[in-house]
Amino acid sequence: MAVKDVLPYLLDSSFLRRCTRASSCFFVSSLVLVLLLVQFDLIPQINMQQQVRDFQKQVSGYIHKLKTTTSSSTPPLASMSEEVDQSTSSLPPSARQQPLSTSESGSTSSSTTSSLLTPPTSHSSTMQSTGRVAICLVGGARAFELTGPTIKKYLLEAIPNSDVFLHCPLDKDSYKLSLLMDTPNLVHVRIFSPEHIPENNVLHDVLTAANSPNGIQGLLQYFKLVEGCLDMINQYQLQYNFTYEWVVRTRVDGYWNDFFPSFKKRNSAAYTVPVGSEFGGLNDRLGVGSWETTKVALARLSLIPTLHVSGARGCNSERSFKDQLMVMKIPSKKSGFPFCILSHRRYGFPPGYSGVPVLSITSKGNMNGAKCRPCTPASRGASAKAILKMLRNGWGWPGDIKDPELCNAAGPWESNWESIFDSVAGSEIAKIRKDTVSQNLSACVRTFESWRVHVMNWDAPDPETLCEKGLGESG
Ligand SMILES: *[C@@H]1O[C@H](CO)[C@@H](O)[C@H](O)[C@H]1NC(C)=O
Ligand SMILES: *[C@@H]1O[C@H](CO)[C@@H](O)[C@H](O)[C@H]1NC(C)=O
Repeated sequence: MAVKDVLPYLLDSSFLRRCTRASSCFFVSSLVLVLLLVQFDLIPQINMQQQVRDFQKQVSGYIHKLKTTTSSSTPPLASMSEEVDQSTSSLPPSARQQPLSTSESGSTSSSTTSSLLTPPTSHSSTMQSTGRVAICLVGGARAFELTGPTIKKYLLEAIPNSDVFLHCPLDKDSYKLSLLMDTPNLVHVRIFSPEHIPENNVLHDVLTAANSPNGIQGLLQYFKLVEGCLDMINQYQLQYNFTYEWVVRTRVDGYWNDFFPSFKKRNSAAYTVPVGSEFGGLNDRLGVGSWETTKVALARLSLIPTLHVSGARGCNSERSFKDQLMVMKIPSKKSGFPFCILSHRRYGFPPGYSGVPVLSITSKGNMNGAKCRPCTPASRGASAKAILKMLRNGWGWPGDIKDPELCNAAGPWESNWESIFDSVAGSEIAKIRKDTVSQNLSACVRTFESWRVHVMNWDAPDPETLCEKGLGESG
């Protein structure tokens, strides 16, 4: 059985995405599952063919049951993927001319799979200079006047040969994105009005609402933002007939305190994520990989049916991410990254064994995407290290941090957080922060007007809409 030859075609994410639109998805999923089990050697060698046949029967019975339960009352998965795809229809014609998921692109990408995934000493990791890099930023711009200037300095402007893709929901903070105005390598901006994502039994089985501030819907919205990167990047690659060597995906609420690490020693066969903050799975606040591994890692929504078939149940975001890579046979690697996620959420202090630490942005070294805020540290030095050492490994433990300082995050941000922030981030970033939030409506509109003509793919509401939501009343 030439499983190895068939599998890449089935696992190609664009194929899966198309498949979720048709009702035949369930049969495809069952086929994928059987092939995966064979490929993974999960089925004992003895009398394998008979077992595969038995298993196939079981799976199709199960799939049939699943199909009847999901198609009766709940919206089908098809509407979910339509939602992901829908925004592409408003793209400029030039960008849309290239079909997104033709069989052509499917076959070319899977033909490169083997060359990218097999050799440990892949050509990319031994090359002198880095090839082209795509950086995809996702999320709400809530504290972007604080995180944006650091993302710009340490990430967007620091990675040579990079293009930036921005995928954000439209809200009252969207106007803050104006601070990216003079970022020369921004090639696609997509700001969309969030819509409810239909939920169904499959999603409710695979995901849990526990510890997600906005429940399962919140998770789905996040997954959709992440998966949107694939469409945007793929479209650009097809438009210019090339493939990025690396794709970096992270969030707009990241506060960076140092430059993005070099790609030189990265292994392109593995998907790299930050160490720590794993919450029972893998840290999903940043990821670095080749286009081939990225296609799997970012397919957070469209792989849920596959996860369901594989038996994943009650997963949080981190767990479903880990399972997703495992099921699709993408190895993961953990590494240090100099950023934290700026958060207003409150957590008890000191954190208990399964608690969440909140770092002060005054900490030194890689914070690996742990939660943080500007604060007067409640604990620093040896005592802060001792508190972190007590945390559950594989859960809230944030990795080894060179010089950690901890906040007591039981209450709201301190009243003088702005001056704390400014003194840590430096005067250059402090000025951008102040200018961003103090601009008036007409200045904001003018900024977006002149910005959008320079971005190749501008896929966002008009400048008035972007600015009025946040600056309308006061401006
Ligand atoms: C795209 O690039 C490949 C080589 O990288 C070339 O063989 C192919 O003809 C190109 N396709 C188009 C449409 O230019
Ligand atoms: C808005 O700010 C600009 C300077 O950034 C200023 O020239 C302009 O007069 C202001 N407009 C209003 C309506 O306040």
